[in-house]
Amino acid sequence: MFSTALPTRKRRRPEVTFTQGRGEVKFGDVKVYLVERRMGKSRRNFLSNLARSKGFCVDDALSGNVTHVVSEGNAAQELWNWLEEQGFGEMQDKHVLNVSWFTESMSAGRPVPVELRHYIQDALEVLAENMEFSGNQGPCLAFRRAASVLKSLPAALQCLEETHRLPCLGEHSKAIVEEIFECGSSSRVEEVLNDEKYRTMKLFSSVFGVGPKTAESWYYRGLRTFEQVLTEPSIRLNRMQTAGFLFYEDISKPVSRTEASALKIIVEEAVIYVNPHATVNVAGGFRRGKEFGHDVDFIIKTPEPGQEDAILPAVIERFKSQNILLYSDFQESTFDLSQLPNHRFEAMDHFSKCFLIVKLKREQENRERETDKGASRDWKAVRVDLLAPPVERYAYALLGWTGSTLFERDLRRFARLERGKLLDNHVLYDKATKAFLPASTEEDIFAHLGLEFIEPWQRNA
Ligand code: UTP
Ligand code: MG
Repeated sequence: MFSTALPTRKRRRPEVTFTQGRGEVKFGDVKVYLVERRMGKSRRNFLSNLARSKGFCVDDALSGNVTHVVSEGNAAQELWNWLEEQGFGEMQDKHVLNVSWFTESMSAGRPVPVELRHYIQDALEVLAENMEFSGNQGPCLAFRRAASVLKSLPAALQCLEETHRLPCLGEHSKAIVEEIFECGSSSRVEEVLNDEKYRTMKLFSSVFGVGPKTAESWYYRGLRTFEQVLTEPSIRLNRMQTAGFLFYEDISKPVSRTEASALKIIVEEAVIYVNPHATVNVAGGFRRGKEFGHDVDFIIKTPEPGQEDAILPAVIERFKSQNILLYSDFQESTFDLSQLPNHRFEAMDHFSKCFLIVKLKREQENRERETDKGASRDWKAVRVDLLAPPVERYAYALLGWTGSTLFERDLRRFARLERGKLLDNHVLYDKATKAFLPASTEEDIFAHLGLEFIEPWQRNA
């Protein structure tokens, strides 16, 4: 995937042409082919249908007409070997791309121009993940930041020198970028992609409830596949992991924006049933305008202090009575203002929350999701997180749960180092005056920090 360094290209003008299958083809000169290998059949179907519904032409066969080959999780050499076997040659007007080009194009609703950063960003993310798997937080963060900076560039990188002006690009990241610029691929990234430990860790940690530690322990016990894990008598899965394996097929697929909207209606119905004055807001990636997510995050606002404690157990009961609850992990609030501010940032906050897997009826989805026609069930299992903070903590919680994780980290760092203030999901605290700063909206928090309001969609990087 990182084997071709394509020069930046001028964007082709979309053409409105003929109709194809399900939808009108808006971009006739772009013909996409999705590589099923490693992507999986159902994800490929899902992505193909999604693209078609947005006016893209997706070919099921790898013909000579294909202009954009999109692959996910394949090592470059293997992919090229496979493409060559299929008689697909590297040509001037053909792109072999990572899925990042595809997801960006879906988000934009048009084929985005192919840029070198599509290769580089993914390369850096692979390295970040590899560092995370081996517990190297520092280098992991450095690669994530660098990938994120490249992702946020308004224009394509034209030459290597431009990278010298970019912030957050450490020596290691620069070296990778340089290598990809010069050779079209990075030997280090190739090595990681082909590394058995990385591959196994990636596979195991893709299961809900399996963190890097568990994945690593399974790896060191010689296990390499799900089947081996599930048939190993000495392994006892906890409740979360059991659900993770049981619904793996569904919850490892991305959740679409359409599905997130359908879920919002379900969550709203249950919340209002329990407390007619409560409101529901989408947080997480979907609030930032993302087209896909690994879950859907909702934050519930109850009008009176104290009401937040009862709402989640009641919503869970409501879902049970509707027979749509597949898994729930409710965590009671441990919030105590007298324990704050906390000088050490903790990833988890103290609010009442639950991690759920719910059934989403396929009829509730729109045409885009007409996938898996042969599936016997009429529902898809989807991961949903619900958060119910006390009303006076709502703004901080919303800001924290909107993410992205990197954005939050940088905002907290800015607050601490530039403004002498401690920010987390619960409070904003002024170290100089030793006072908690009140906020009823996100705008109030940005104002306290002396920053212009940053819109959720600007918080992706
Ligand atoms: P997610 O993990 O859902 O990330 O957490 P996301 O940005 O929505 O991306 P995908 O698409 O689902 O993968 C959403 C935000 O909530 C914060 C995270 O830091 C992230 O910014 N969060 C999550 C917390 O602050 N505390 C938690 O306990 C969980
Ligand atoms: Mg999310």
